[in-house]
Amino acid sequence: MSRPSKLTVVGAGAVGSSVAYAAMIRGAARHIALYDIAEEKTRAEVLDLAHGAKFVGATEITGGSDIAVTANSDVVVITAGAKQKPGQTRIELAATNARIMGSLMEQLLEVSPEAIYVIVSNPCDVLTMLAHEASGLPAERLFASGTTLDSSRLRWEIARRAGVSASSVHAMIVGEHGDTEFPLWSGARIGTVPILDWTVEGERVFDEATLEQIAVDVRDAAYTVIQGKGATNYAIGLSSSRIVEAILSDEAAILPVAPVLSGIHGLDGVALSVPCVVDRAGAHPIAQAPFSAHEQELLHRSAASLHEVAAGLRG
Ligand code: LAC
Repeated sequence: MSRPSKLTVVGAGAVGSSVAYAAMIRGAARHIALYDIAEEKTRAEVLDLAHGAKFVGATEITGGSDIAVTANSDVVVITAGAKQKPGQTRIELAATNARIMGSLMEQLLEVSPEAIYVIVSNPCDVLTMLAHEASGLPAERLFASGTTLDSSRLRWEIARRAGVSASSVHAMIVGEHGDTEFPLWSGARIGTVPILDWTVEGERVFDEATLEQIAVDVRDAAYTVIQGKGATNYAIGLSSSRIVEAILSDEAAILPVAPVLSGIHGLDGVALSVPCVVDRAGAHPIAQAPFSAHEQELLHRSAASLHEVAAGLRG
């Protein structure tokens, strides 16, 4: 019999506990462990989750502040670190969270050498680059959750205007999970219809100005939520669980996550979200995914900005 799947969520704050909660409800893993240095808070979150056991499928919930609780994980989702304050960019967290990530990755790898690592802590793409260099893990086994969440925000914005379900919108945000991200409009479809051709009661509902507004709203969505409630947690919980499901069920789902790229769209050594096949071995960028010349330029702009931040952190 195969061993039951184990997911570890590192960080028991708003994001980490929401990842665990979403994964528990969605039955993403047979065993979910929550790890954080804040012992009492972590124990309380574990209890609160476990008390819901009757209402979900068979999921064992454990956790605490000893790294041993994370041992032998199949997937580790890292949410630990400082979070954005209202008005603060993700990049402004880089120095603080890079410091935390270094020793954390080392400890995690020691007890879960075979795991797939998904970095949610921000700036997730930059932290992935540094963790990749420090750990020597193959690129497919360590990647950022990237713009999987932003792509859900994009689909929601399109879906509500088009009057269809978000799951029938095929559109992605790519690039940095942050201020230089952008939609891959050239490939966007509603069902099979190119987005600009979609009509509601005979009228087109999307034009260039609407698309631009949607891109801005999606890019700034986290700022809006953080301004109002101090953090984002539910949607990042769901999108992270979705990534875990794709890994553990060896699904080969196409998701925009961010491994360190080599030779994809002319980029090397930078972690950026591009369409990737996600399966039990990790994330594999799709080399032939089409980008228009303008999208290619935006992707390179996003890469240049992340390279610059990473270089600053390496000192
Ligand atoms: C967000 C955080 C997770 O975009 O970066 O909600």
